[in-house]
Amino acid sequence: MDMQPEPFVPPAPVPRTAPPSRLEIIRTVMRNPLELWGVPSYTLPWIATKFFNERTLIVNDPGLIRHVLVDNAPNYRMSVIRQLILRPILRDGLLTAEGDVWKRSRKAMAPVFTPRHSQGFAGQMLRKAEEYAEKYAGCGTTGATADISVDMTELTFEILSDTLFSGEIVSASEKFSDDVDQLLHRMGRVDPMDLLRAPAWVPRLTRIGGQKVLDKFRGIVRQTMDQRRARMASDRSKVPNDFLTLLLDLAGPDGLTNEEIEDNILTFIGAGHETTARALAWTLYCVSNSPQVRERMEAEIDRVLASGANPVEWLDLMPHTRASFEEALRLYPPAPSINRAAIEDDAWTAPDGTRVEIPAGITVLIMPWTLHRHELYWDRPRAFMPERFLPENRARINRFQFLPFGVGPRVCIGATFALQEAVIGLGVLMHRYRFDMTPETNPWPIQKLTTQPQHGLPMRVSERRAT
Ligand code: HEM
Repeated sequence: MDMQPEPFVPPAPVPRTAPPSRLEIIRTVMRNPLELWGVPSYTLPWIATKFFNERTLIVNDPGLIRHVLVDNAPNYRMSVIRQLILRPILRDGLLTAEGDVWKRSRKAMAPVFTPRHSQGFAGQMLRKAEEYAEKYAGCGTTGATADISVDMTELTFEILSDTLFSGEIVSASEKFSDDVDQLLHRMGRVDPMDLLRAPAWVPRLTRIGGQKVLDKFRGIVRQTMDQRRARMASDRSKVPNDFLTLLLDLAGPDGLTNEEIEDNILTFIGAGHETTARALAWTLYCVSNSPQVRERMEAEIDRVLASGANPVEWLDLMPHTRASFEEALRLYPPAPSINRAAIEDDAWTAPDGTRVEIPAGITVLIMPWTLHRHELYWDRPRAFMPERFLPENRARINRFQFLPFGVGPRVCIGATFALQEAVIGLGVLMHRYRFDMTPETNPWPIQKLTTQPQHGLPMRVSERRAT
């Protein structure tokens, strides 16, 4: 008989069995919101509750999610709390824009992110991943320790910068990715004043110093724009036909304002690399604890690379690699919460006739974090079992129970880009190296802007073959 080993169950907070006090809520939201949720959030289809006097509907039911994010999407706007945190940084960038500005911007940028156009980036993604993989050359078969969390952030930043900006983001410091890191972590967190719904002008003590970083960052973005505009003015034929050029070409009364272009550059730098980086790091961690999964991935990767297949095809040719990445997206969704607020009164009726009232103004919390670990929708929800995502099993997963990229009009514009990048990155790295646990590898998921390993992710990197 084929004995299947027990699947790996990676670390995660145990659902609370008693509701936290108000003070504990504040403390937990500040420290790690993933530790807030109790048993009901992981077992009930929806919960109508109050959160700091705000009426809140926690939604896990795939049918109700479909109603809010797709069928009646125009009745829902971005939630106040999300906008309080992100809008001061990203203003009218695509992630935080609403109404007409959003519609105009999404339409203008969509062509760059169609599956076909994203495929055009495969060659650059491969080259950048190969260059990055050189970093570990010489670690030998005994290996060296590296912080995979940091490394994956560098790798995805390099790919983003090369594909969308032709590597021409002006850098203020040796490591531009450090600037981005600082900005996101200073600014992008919940402050007690946000929870208490203080108006935007009330200072957020947790973000002191953040404005300075933001100003510096906007300066960098403006310089990047000026530099490219100067090139466009002098000899257009020599200018790369990339995302930056496309954005700058949109300037004008029918397109985007200068400020909106600036906001979008910031948005795509912010949204376009840390998310993928987190999921890559969690994938390598989970795989290193699942020897059979790793063997299947290595065999698949070695076969595809030996065949000389075009990297555009890797996503289809590597179902085990893709499945492991998607399983990591399920267990550690980089965007753990998708929040909305109802504009007008609404209601939804479940298949069994139960009616859910959704009054105007209520906050709707759709949390990939609880949805992806929900007892009603997943078999062994806490276990790392990539086989769920293999093509032959995929049909059993409802479109609305797996939402790493969201769904509906505001679905992640970079989803295809990210999946392709991840499979190419994993293919290149795992072809040459093995990533293993060390005594220090002990990650704990913590929600900052993304779901990341607290204190990083040290792992041992070793060459698979002696060179
Ligand atoms: C694994 C990687 C990624 C994950 C998990 C992810 C997740 C998400 C999610 C959940 C949303 C929807 C938020 C909502 O409905 O409130 C979103 C939106 C967005 N993402 Fe991603 N993302 C990833 C990669 C990327 C990449 C690579 C880019 C750009 C190159 C990107 C750019 C954006 C933008 C601009 C939006 C706003 C779209 C809109 O509102 O029209 N993301 N992302």
